[in-house]
Amino acid sequence: MTIMVTGGAGYIGSHTCVELIEAGHQVVIFDNFCNSNIEVVRRIERITSAAPVVVRGDVRDRDLISATLAKHRCEAVIHFAGLKSVAESVSHPLLYYENNVLGSMSLVQAMQDVGVGKLVFSSSATVYGDPVFLPLTEDHPKSPYSPYGRTKLVVEEMLTEVAQSTNRFKIAILRYFNPVGCHVSGLIGEDPLGVPSNLMPFIAQVAVGRRPHVNIFGNDYNTPDGTGIRDYVHVMDLASGHLRALEHLSRQDFIQVNLGTGRGSSVLDLVQAFSKACGKDIPFVFSARRDGDVASYYAATDLAHKLLGWRATRKLHDMCADTWRWQSRNPNGYGIVPDQVSA
Ligand code: NAD
Ligand code: UFG
Repeated sequence: MTIMVTGGAGYIGSHTCVELIEAGHQVVIFDNFCNSNIEVVRRIERITSAAPVVVRGDVRDRDLISATLAKHRCEAVIHFAGLKSVAESVSHPLLYYENNVLGSMSLVQAMQDVGVGKLVFSSSATVYGDPVFLPLTEDHPKSPYSPYGRTKLVVEEMLTEVAQSTNRFKIAILRYFNPVGCHVSGLIGEDPLGVPSNLMPFIAQVAVGRRPHVNIFGNDYNTPDGTGIRDYVHVMDLASGHLRALEHLSRQDFIQVNLGTGRGSSVLDLVQAFSKACGKDIPFVFSARRDGDVASYYAATDLAHKLLGWRATRKLHDMCADTWRWQSRNPNGYGIVPDQVSA
């Protein structure tokens, strides 16, 4: 089938495009390239020997989306396009509501205009907020603590109501835990603009010499080694979760599912695993806790297994080894001139 992938040039989208193409689907990447590089499309082609269609456009442009869906006879949409920086969402909340909420609304309206009903939406474990209990099951209370997280929850609620109002839509909401790693070829990977705010790309840039050391935000949490615990999930496992979710929509009209491993790893676990994968020491310093961080969270994975038959299979070592292959072969990512190196 032909699938429109909004944000398909981004980190998770590009890996999912590879998975979809390798499963025999045709892909139409719809992206405004505000946080991605066109080079990724050539890399997807090198991996899969198939050239995805690329449409440069904004998800807020309802007419362009409907025209693209109709022109390419798309049967489903996977919606990654959006902004994702927690810190930026605090300083620019309207930008986030406009991109993430209005963008999703105009996408769904465009789908309705042309009668395309299958939708997989990228949500986030951030919708749960501070854990009341662990592991986080899908029915855990929702209390996001940033504008970014609230945009995800608003879109989830909008999609829930759309699904309740009609049987023309079939919707899967996927809540990702901490996506890391990259395709085993080392040809595509995570390429953040500026200083990475997430842990894995920061460690990778330290390993490759772009930054002097990792700042570990807090070593006094109530966890075994005092550093924060997260559920890191390999991006290719996430990609296969999207394929399963899409297939599942032929059997069920609406699902909300966590995609995580169910295993928590600390910041120090990740630093050590990366050090082993790249064969170098990773220098680090302990610094103050980062505002808004919680000590620990990880996913309940039973529902994903029960509904989708999906479990993450790749381990922390694979996540680090694959990231290192990408980072060491592409020290400056897709070639954007790196920012000045800073700690
Ligand atoms: P990314 O920034 O690498 O990819 C997003 C893509 O969407 C980029 O190519 C960007 O150019 C495009 N885009 C942004 N706004 C757009 C718009 N208005 N119109 C068209 N294209 C637009 O991010 P990612 O890490 O691949 O994340 C993909 C999705 O998954 C996002 O919705 C994000 O919120 C969600 N998510 C990410 C994480 C994570 O840690 N990476 C965790 C949970 C959820
Ligand atoms: N951390 C450091 N140093 C860094 C960066 C992070 O010590 O330079 C620590 C954090 O304090 C946290 C852990 O590493 O304990 C993971 O932090 P990330 O920034 O990599 O990830 P978060 O869990 O904060 O959030 C990520 C995405 C969110 C998404 C969430 C979903 O950034 O957008 O996962 O679970 F919503």
